[in-house]
Amino acid sequence: MTPVDQVLALVRPDILALTAYSSARKESKGGRAGPEPSRWVWLDANENPETPSVHMPLLNRYPEPQPADLVAQLATLYGVTPAQVLVTRGSDEGIDLLLRTFCRAGQDAILITPPTYGMYVVAAGIQGARTVTVPLIREKNFALDAAAVLQATTPEVKLVFLCSPNNPTGNLLDRAGVLSLVRSLASRAVVVVDEAYVDFSGQPSLAAEIAANPNLVVLRTLSKAYGLAGARVGTTIADPAVIAVLQKVIAPYPVPAPVLAAALAALTPAGLAAARESVAALVAERARLATALAKLPAVKRVWPSDANYLLIEVADSARIMAAGRAAGVVWRDRSKDVPNHIRLTVGTAEENNATLEVLARLSNPPL
Ligand SMILES: Cc1ncc(COP(=O)(O)O)c(C=O)c1O
Repeated sequence: MTPVDQVLALVRPDILALTAYSSARKESKGGRAGPEPSRWVWLDANENPETPSVHMPLLNRYPEPQPADLVAQLATLYGVTPAQVLVTRGSDEGIDLLLRTFCRAGQDAILITPPTYGMYVVAAGIQGARTVTVPLIREKNFALDAAAVLQATTPEVKLVFLCSPNNPTGNLLDRAGVLSLVRSLASRAVVVVDEAYVDFSGQPSLAAEIAANPNLVVLRTLSKAYGLAGARVGTTIADPAVIAVLQKVIAPYPVPAPVLAAALAALTPAGLAAARESVAALVAERARLATALAKLPAVKRVWPSDANYLLIEVADSARIMAAGRAAGVVWRDRSKDVPNHIRLTVGTAEENNATLEVLARLSNPPL
């Protein structure tokens, strides 16, 4: 078996056999005979021929299932080929698609490395897949326990989710360790590296390694560094054969026309320059906030971060969260996963000052 065939052997057999829904827009891509497409009469998809004036233009037509110009631009942005790209409704949809494509309900499992992003286990629960856990090593700054992951990857485990930088701990996982795991699991499992926050790390993505390792999948998003969380634009990057299978499972028209317009605007030279500036500002604020937090008695520890948030250890997270709420500042209590730890998003200087003011007040209670 070729390495790609080995990965396809991990796909649910019923999905491999499935005939995908063929949308009108996909079918109309086929024939090129006749007049220019701009002069075609579109009577294939039961659309309304008019755009009511209250709508944005073109909303009466279904969008392209995978808009070619967006796919091409995302491929350039991420340094991969268009055939390795699938545009999804946020990277959350990529997680869900992978679960539904690779895991049979009641039989298969995923592996996660807690504390980590909560959607992996939720998507597994929805699909009826079991979750195997191999904790990150807290004493080593939440490093990956690659040997333990390898050992825990039994034949039921089809997907290994690694988050780098990891949410909520903020650290990048060791690149060489992840790659060695990917190679060791070549014929056994797909390794999904969630790089939602990699833009804030200054480190290269693992996406370039997919060509040599077809069991590697990388998730990226425009939600964080590109400020487009409201538009829902995620990218699943994988071997073209894996993308082709995911295409069978994804909804027929996942990229609404207004979302396409927003994403294309974010990827113009001006949009990209704005994103670079935003990342630089947030990285500088991250350093300022970390230094200031570390000086506050209410803060026991600030974990190093390669992302746009900081995980801090406090004496009593419930008390601190309540003080934040009272002052109208909302953080995320991660105590369920790491006792007495709170995750603070790095915001504007003003927003970060609000965080510091609340925590400073708690550090110096009135006598
Ligand atoms: C690690 C991680 N992955 C994926 C996502 C989902 O991002 P989106 O669906 O907006 O692309 C998030 C969102 O917070 C996240 O923290």
